[in-house]
Formats: sequence, C-alpha cells, structure tokens
Amino acid sequence: MERPRWPPLNPATNTAHLVQQASRDGVESVNVLIFGASGATGREVVKRALDRGHSVGAFVRHPDKFEIKHADLALTVGDVTEYALVERAVRGQDAIASALGSGNSLSSDPALIDGVQNIIRAMDHAGVRRFVYMSMLGVGDSGGQLGFVDKYIVLPLLLRNVVSDHARKEALIKRSTLDWVIVRPPRLTNGPYTGRYQSGEDVRERTLLASISRADMADFLVKQFADDRYVHKTPAVLG
Ligand SMILES: NC(=O)c1ccc[n+]([C@@H]2O[C@H](COP(=O)([O-])OP(=O)(O)OC[C@H]3O[C@@H](n4cnc5c(N)ncnc54)[C@H](OP(=O)(O)O)[C@@H]3O)[C@@H](O)[C@H]2O)c1
Repeated sequence: MERPRWPPLNPATNTAHLVQQASRDGVESVNVLIFGASGATGREVVKRALDRGHSVGAFVRHPDKFEIKHADLALTVGDVTEYALVERAVRGQDAIASALGSGNSLSSDPALIDGVQNIIRAMDHAGVRRFVYMSMLGVGDSGGQLGFVDKYIVLPLLLRNVVSDHARKEALIKRSTLDWVIVRPPRLTNGPYTGRYQSGEDVRERTLLASISRADMADFLVKQFADDRYVHKTPAVLG
C-alpha cells in the first residue's frame, strides 16, 4: 500500500504544500519578482516561493510555455533587455531573484549582461534592495571550492564563456548599492527536494561530479528573500 505523502502535494504547483510550515517557521511573506521564471531552475523557484506563501511575479518571454497557475502568481511578459518593462515589473517588489541563463549554449550571452544591468538600474530607481542572483560555483574567488574534475576540466574547457559572463554579472552586482546575495551552485539536476544540502562560503566539492537538485537550490534561493545572513556574500550550495 502506498504511504500517504507529507507534506501533501499542492495541486496548483504540483509540489509539497509548505505554507503552513512557513507560518510555523515565522517566515515573512514578501512580494518577489523572478527573472528566468520559465527556466528549469526558475520554475522550481516560482513553485517554492508560492509554497512558502510569497506573492510571486514571474518575468517570462513566452507565457504560452509557462504552465504554473496560482492565485498569488502574476506574469510579466518581456525580455530582460527591455529596460522600461523591467523597471515597471520591479516597482513595488520587496525582492528580486534571477535564475536567468542561456539554455544549453556554451557561448557568451551579452544580452544577459545587459539584462542584469537593467535589473540593477531598475531596482536602484524603484528603491528595491534585495537581489538574489544565481551564479555558478567556480566563478570569481570560488575556484578553490571546486573538485578536481570541475576545476581542471569542466569549467576551463567547457564552461569558460559561461563562467566569464557570470563573473561580469557578479562584478556589476557587487559594485551596486543593493542588498545582494550571490548564490553559487555546482551542476544542477532535476532530482527531488530533499532539504539536505550544505551551504556557505567555505563548503567544497567533495565528490567527483558534485551537484544539487534544482528543487533544493530553489529552497535555498527563496530563503534568501528575507534572511540577512548572506547579504553581500557569495554562498555555495552543494547537495
Ligand atoms: N545547468 C547547470 O547545471 C547550472 C549549474 C550552475 C549554475 N547554473 C546557472 O543557473 C542559471 C539557470 O540555469 P537553468 O539551467 O535553470 O537555465 P535555463 O533552463 O536555460 O533557464 C534560463 C531562463 O532565462 C530566461 N532568459 C534567457 N534570456 C532571457 C532574456 N533575454 N530575457 C528574459 N528571460 C531570458 C529563459 O527564458 P526562456 O524560457 O524564454 O528561454 C529561461 O527562463 C544559469 O545562469 C546557469 O549558468 C546552471
């Protein structure tokens, strides 16, 4: 016989419904706008944020491909390179998150660098302070946290353009006056939420191909909306 699932699935997001737990944990509900909401990680971030009781704005390019529906979810349709649109979407939010990325492309994507610049400028203009940005382990000063394969093979040979783009975006964010948190995961999987992951500025890859599920990554990212612990820091998250 199948065991009953706890927490129960939330039919709107098809994820474990944790709103009650959120209020038990005393987590404050915030208005958050998520860039890259239609991506593999972005969708997990949207679902997790809704499950935690937040009011969520999803910034998407193709609404027809975005399947999540919820009473506390609003869509903004557009491209992050369109400044006026970004500025309108950012207004009135408490926190902004970015799970922007360029799919499977290993090339540089200057549009996303412009996009992050737009987000920073719009946040400045609107007085929105908290920016949670998803980068990648190995960027900037985090090379020493990588395992052998990632440090000497995967990042320098395969992902060097992606790493250097993230480094440029991180530099823009660090130069801003925002309350930023830059989160650095290793490779992402589509595995389930476990709640068992390590985070911090000194955690290191200990396995050959270190990873974290997007669902666990989303859990950590959503916690940064209202938690000051990692403001102006660059925590890694490892499954
Ligand atoms: N994949 C990994 O193993 C891994 C590991 C560590 C870090 N990361 C980083 O994590 C981030 C997210 O990864 P992911 O695999 O979830 O990415 P993804 O599935 O490719 O999602 C990227 C998102 O960005 C959106 N986007 C791209 N260009 C845009 C633009 N000009 N305007 C508005 N939206 C735009 C995409 O929209 P559309 O749906 O319209 O295309 C999509 O929603 C990336 O920065 C990546 O470098 C990935």
